[in-house]
Amino acid sequence: MQAIVLVGGEGTRLRPLTYGTPKPMVPIMGVPFLARTLERLHHAGINDVILPAGYMPQAIVDYFGDGSRLGMKITYVIEETPLGTAGALKNVEQHIHGPFFVLNGDVLTSLDLQAMIAEHERLGGLGLLHLIRVDDPSAFGCVVHDAQQRISAFVEKPPRETAPTNEINAGTYLFEREILDMIPAGRNVSIERETFPAVIAAGKGLYACTTSDYWMDLGKPEQYLAAHRDILARRMPMLALEPGATGEGAAALARVARLELPVHADAQVTIDPSAVVGPNVVIGAGCSIGARVVLRDSVLWDGVVLEEGAIVEGAIVASGARIGREARVFEGSVIGHDTTIEPGRVLDAGSRVGATAPIAR
Ligand code: GTP
Repeated sequence: MQAIVLVGGEGTRLRPLTYGTPKPMVPIMGVPFLARTLERLHHAGINDVILPAGYMPQAIVDYFGDGSRLGMKITYVIEETPLGTAGALKNVEQHIHGPFFVLNGDVLTSLDLQAMIAEHERLGGLGLLHLIRVDDPSAFGCVVHDAQQRISAFVEKPPRETAPTNEINAGTYLFEREILDMIPAGRNVSIERETFPAVIAAGKGLYACTTSDYWMDLGKPEQYLAAHRDILARRMPMLALEPGATGEGAAALARVARLELPVHADAQVTIDPSAVVGPNVVIGAGCSIGARVVLRDSVLWDGVVLEEGAIVEGAIVASGARIGREARVFEGSVIGHDTTIEPGRVLDAGSRVGATAPIAR
């Protein structure tokens, strides 16, 4: 079995983070998200992976190389211009030899891939789509199917009151190779908008497999923060987290007088004991947290400095950024790589500060 992980998107909704780091390399608990996805494939015994990339591909290639470090074989196919979620599959056709998985590169889920293989073998057809149920499907692609799990319609982002179902496309597919014959070559094609409806119209069998697994699309800052909250609260079974403060920086956290769990810190962090830290905080390697800092509901990447008296709440702060003395960063703010927030500056909720174009590295 092979797998294609779609990693070519620009990640516009995560800017400015994605001006310095392509979305698949954005860290989840300190490790690039794509590494987590590849580990999951490896555990399921799927070691032949194709990565259609295009946006900042070098960062991905530099980190994973040929995949041998992970016991995998990785083939990169770089798109000169984005080909879309189905065009990217057509573009790697020559590397596909049989049934294959497709994973959206920004989905965090506990889905059992082996169970999906068994379900596809049972149901047959051209492919099997993983679905999950959500309260409000209006921001997603709804998938309508019958009691035999055969899909009859796709409805993109319906108004909540008219949505035909609350089951949505969860971004993991298992296809027979023949589906590639239904994708036109050489242009941008969306799998959701074009290919799936075409397969249904042609009367080919596409099946749904709805599970109650943990699932989160990491496309937006609030989802990125929610995913970290869920991992820390062990709702997403990603890491075997011990009770109490976790990570290689747990000893530094233990000296903090006002600590509210859950909190995770990586290696070589320095934290002034007078800081107020937590809950729902992840501190990357080499960060420095000054005296009287208040840090809540936030994720700091590596090498971030919070100077004395800074307040950071509900924010994502990328590698190398510095939040000046007494500066305040509030709910939903995103601070880009190596960005300095001047002492005393107050950023409104939802601020995005940092690079305004991809950073050459
Ligand atoms: P936004 O710009 O914030 O919407 O993010 P995105 O560009 O990643 O788009 P989206 O979240 O819709 O993409 C879903 C998945 O498909 C992600 O894993 C993307 O990396 C991937 N993807 C989207 N467009 C392309 C493309 O043109 N080529 C390839 N190879 N992958 C793509």
